[in-house]
Amino acid sequence: MNETIRTLRSLRTIHGDFTKRRISGADLQTVLDCAVRAANASGRQSYSIVTVSDRDKMRHLCGYAGDRLLVFCVDFTRIIDLARHLGHEFTVPDIAGFVTGSTDTILAAQTACIAARSLGIDSLFTNGIHRGSIERVFSALELPDRHCFPLVALVLGYAGQEPPHQKGRLTGPGIVHRETYRRLTTKEREALVAQYDDPACHLALNEDWAKEGVRHYLDWFYTRWSRHRDTRPLWQALQKAGFVPGGESGAK
Ligand SMILES: Cc1cc2nc3c(=O)[nH]c(=O)nc-3n(C[C@H](O)[C@H](O)[C@H](O)COP(=O)(O)O)c2cc1C
Repeated sequence: MNETIRTLRSLRTIHGDFTKRRISGADLQTVLDCAVRAANASGRQSYSIVTVSDRDKMRHLCGYAGDRLLVFCVDFTRIIDLARHLGHEFTVPDIAGFVTGSTDTILAAQTACIAARSLGIDSLFTNGIHRGSIERVFSALELPDRHCFPLVALVLGYAGQEPPHQKGRLTGPGIVHRETYRRLTTKEREALVAQYDDPACHLALNEDWAKEGVRHYLDWFYTRWSRHRDTRPLWQALQKAGFVPGGESGAK
């Protein structure tokens, strides 16, 4: 096994237990330099990465704190500004731009996570930035109102404690489809329900699910965890940013 595969196989999340140990400036720069090496549509790098080093601000933004927070935003502001600088028009991005921009952004974010792990730096991806008012994120980071949207945050730091085990993953039917897509058979569905129930597979988000009076882990997942959440604020933020119809029109 080579070093890269070893790093990828060692990926795991630290759920908020980060020590006070500092990440060196050189290591952080390496992580950022690697992040932007990720593939990006039309060479546009339609993202911005905002780094945060104040722990209180991190908690305010996402509910977690480590040594650094990297907020990965889909962002066309720089691209629009450069077009205007040269006197060109740039079609203001809509939902198609958002999908492509999100792809660029996530590839950069995951590359940062892998680079960090290779340097012994631990991490936590969180969408805590989308819990509560998203306006606080725009305001705390002074993000442009239009054509910019904070997609995901990556907390970086050093783990206080190693997790007891790695979380499992499904790898078989229903995940990888050979040549054409195929829905699960009843037998395969039963096998997957059993895999989620099997403590040795480490697939459960809540390992104490059985104490909550349900038969299967997935009963807990569908009835307790996957509650309906009000997605209107997120939708409104995307409208305001101009990525979906209904907000103000035209670039500012
Ligand atoms: C978009 C996204 C948001 C996440 N948000 C949180 C979060 O708010 N809190 C948390 O503890 N973990 C969060 N996670 C981490 C997942 O819980 C974790 O990746 C998953 O349980 C698998 O565990 P592993 O990464 O250790 O293999 C998030 C992961 C992703 C990709």
